[in-house]
Amino acid sequence: MRFLQKPFVFVNVAASLDGKISDESRRQLRISCDEDLRIVDELRAESDAIMVGIGTVLADDPRLTVKSRDLRKRRLEEKKDENPLRVVVDSRCRVPLSSKVLNDEAKTLVAVSKAADEERIRRVSQRAEVAVFGEEKVDLSRLLEHLFSRGVRRVMVEGGGTLISSLVSGGLVDEMRIYFAPMVIGGSKSPTICDGSSRIMGCRIERVERVGEGFAVFVKF
Ligand SMILES: NC(=O)c1ccc[n+]([C@@H]2O[C@H](COP(=O)([O-])OP(=O)(O)OC[C@H]3O[C@@H](n4cnc5c(N)ncnc54)[C@H](OP(=O)(O)O)[C@@H]3O)[C@@H](O)[C@H]2O)c1
Repeated sequence: MRFLQKPFVFVNVAASLDGKISDESRRQLRISCDEDLRIVDELRAESDAIMVGIGTVLADDPRLTVKSRDLRKRRLEEKKDENPLRVVVDSRCRVPLSSKVLNDEAKTLVAVSKAADEERIRRVSQRAEVAVFGEEKVDLSRLLEHLFSRGVRRVMVEGGGTLISSLVSGGLVDEMRIYFAPMVIGGSKSPTICDGSSRIMGCRIERVERVGEGFAVFVKF
């Protein structure tokens, strides 16, 4: 078996007590409390890359940058880029050209597969780096190997449930932090922490921390 050299993969997600990460509209929902958002910003600042699936870009249009000026300053003092590399997992290169992840606040890598249209790749390449990994879906192992080869040692995955599910079932996640907010969302079609196809995976709960009015669970696989 080939040994995979990959960065440490850390998943961070905010969920309701019933494990939902949005409601049935799939639009961005405020689940995190202020204290959690502050911690998430610190976790971003400590990472070399922030990864999301295209579903999250289309639903939430996130910036994926470090919000705190002090944390950005600290990164510069550490001779790092002001913001971590943004990585969008997007087989067919569907990322809209107006997406905030393609703005000039940070570098972005759009990971596509051979299923992506050449013209889409050409247009997105004017705003970001585009690289091909795999035939139909993005080959996540190859993507992680590539990130490692360019010096990325810590990747923070910020969703959504489909990407997290692929990473978990591929044995590619080292640690997961789930912030549980004091709310239930319900809805059988609401996205959850781990969507995709069903596969039961055991894990170990490392610790539980009180965060604002909710709590965070740290899990290892
Ligand atoms: N509460 C939170 O912390 C949080 C965080 C993030 C997102 N969200 C919510 O989550 C929802 C979006 O989640 P989502 O599950 O729809 O989308 P997602 O996980 O962000 O993106 C999934 C998409 O990535 C692409 N992909 C390419 N290669 C893949 C691979 N190997 N494995 C998995 N996916 C791959 C696929 O689309 P293609 O085949 O077209 O490439 C797939 O449909 C939104 O409602 C958003 O608000 C919540």
